[in-house]
Amino acid sequence: MQTVQALSVLVLAAGKGTRMHSDKPKVLHTLLGEPMLWYVLEALRPLAAEGTYAIIGHGADLVRKQFPDERFILQKEQLGTGHAVLSAWPEVLAANVQWCLVINGDTPLIDGVMLERFCTAMMHDEVDLAFVSTTLEDPSSYGRVIRDGSGLVRGIVEAKDFDPKRHGEPSGEINAGIYLLRVETLGPLLSKISADNKQGEYYLTDLVDLAVRDGLRVGTFNAGDVGDSLSCMGVNSPLELADSEDVLRRRAVQALQRGGVTIHLPDTVSIGPRVLVEPGAEIFGPCELYGAVHICRGAVLESHTWIKNARIGSGSVVRSFSHLEGATVGEGCIVGPYARLRPDAVLETGARIGNFVEMKKARLGKNAKASHLTYLGDAEVGEDVNIGAGTITCNYDGKRKHLTEIGPRAFIGSNTALVAPVRIGADALVGAGSVITKDVPDASLAVARGKQRCFARRKSEEPGV
Ligand code: UD1
Ligand code: MG
Repeated sequence: MQTVQALSVLVLAAGKGTRMHSDKPKVLHTLLGEPMLWYVLEALRPLAAEGTYAIIGHGADLVRKQFPDERFILQKEQLGTGHAVLSAWPEVLAANVQWCLVINGDTPLIDGVMLERFCTAMMHDEVDLAFVSTTLEDPSSYGRVIRDGSGLVRGIVEAKDFDPKRHGEPSGEINAGIYLLRVETLGPLLSKISADNKQGEYYLTDLVDLAVRDGLRVGTFNAGDVGDSLSCMGVNSPLELADSEDVLRRRAVQALQRGGVTIHLPDTVSIGPRVLVEPGAEIFGPCELYGAVHICRGAVLESHTWIKNARIGSGSVVRSFSHLEGATVGEGCIVGPYARLRPDAVLETGARIGNFVEMKKARLGKNAKASHLTYLGDAEVGEDVNIGAGTITCNYDGKRKHLTEIGPRAFIGSNTALVAPVRIGADALVGAGSVITKDVPDASLAVARGKQRCFARRKSEEPGV
């Protein structure tokens, strides 16, 4: 394959996304935990363009914040896709490149290989303007491609402006919103786009008609011909978002299955694009994995687990209804059922967390256990420690968080409150129901609770009286 020549890329991401009925910029709506724009930018990476700019407008600051490393151009008023490209054109000219690839930011299914094939083929054909099309049974709200009797492209007509009497019966061929422009010949046409249409917008698609009239070379690349119509799906509404998300979900699940991961009830498993699951792991649906997740060989995720930005070591089991975010689970651990691991929860090899146990910024040493109803926050727990049911690290004094340290092999009796900062020594034993406010030395027994007292009952209180 020929290499793609130097080009600039413009991602159109400034629109209001009115049909989403949401204040959030459309390109920040997420699919499998990643914003829509993330998918488009990822697909563009292999092209290694001279400069890739996202054109932003509506909610611009929110978009910038979410993508701090990207380059942006502001389209102050969102007057249409043609206006968006015109606003960014000075940057394209400054880059001194021959080509400009323009892509809608609302096409999260786009595939990098397809983009590369499109650019290479069209550059080879020496077009002035080219765009990706595909043929659909229902062209719905997509722009429709108009060809003359000999099959030559005449233009693109937006769905709202389409009139069969003027434009002929729809062929089903639609515009995917991906264009390659030869900077020298197409640039001058941008300012000729008018807003004389049903929506009163400057349509980028009018460039096709303008180019044809000027006798320029217009090419099309039918994604259906390379078996990739899905790549062209645009997202304009919550329903389309869900449809695209499901396509991505199926792709991810099937890729893992092909790679040797056993997935039960695969239709109920959601896996984000940055999730890595090693062969030999086993996942029971329904289950959701998002962000930078790494599941090692031999790990088992039972149903109804939700995991984000976490690592699960080999041979570990995450039992049903557990919720993990930002946690690191070592090898051979057991988590749950009904466990909650919050950011910076760390389980070392063989550690166990049982039902209704919450951990945050806490480390549980090798083979240590907290089996029931416990909160471990800002804590360092040594190896082989046993934490009894109902233990709470009281880490917050209303102003600041404090550390609880528990030495190796210590035994914390049930219903104990450890008021931080506090240290329980190695091999120490804390009596059930204690409120520990002072350090407990190594190998000692600490009991801090009211002494039990018994009184004779009055006759009327005796059972059966
Ligand atoms: C557009 C195309 C249509 C094509 C479809 C493919 C036009 C006029 N129509 O329609 O032919 O079939 O995409 O999905 O281009 N945007 C800006 N600034 C603006 C307006 C829009 O940056 O002023 C951005 C949007 O954020 C979006 C993209 O451009 O990412 C496309 O805009 P959208 O309103 O979704 O156009 P469609 O109606 O989908
Ligand atoms: Mg769209």
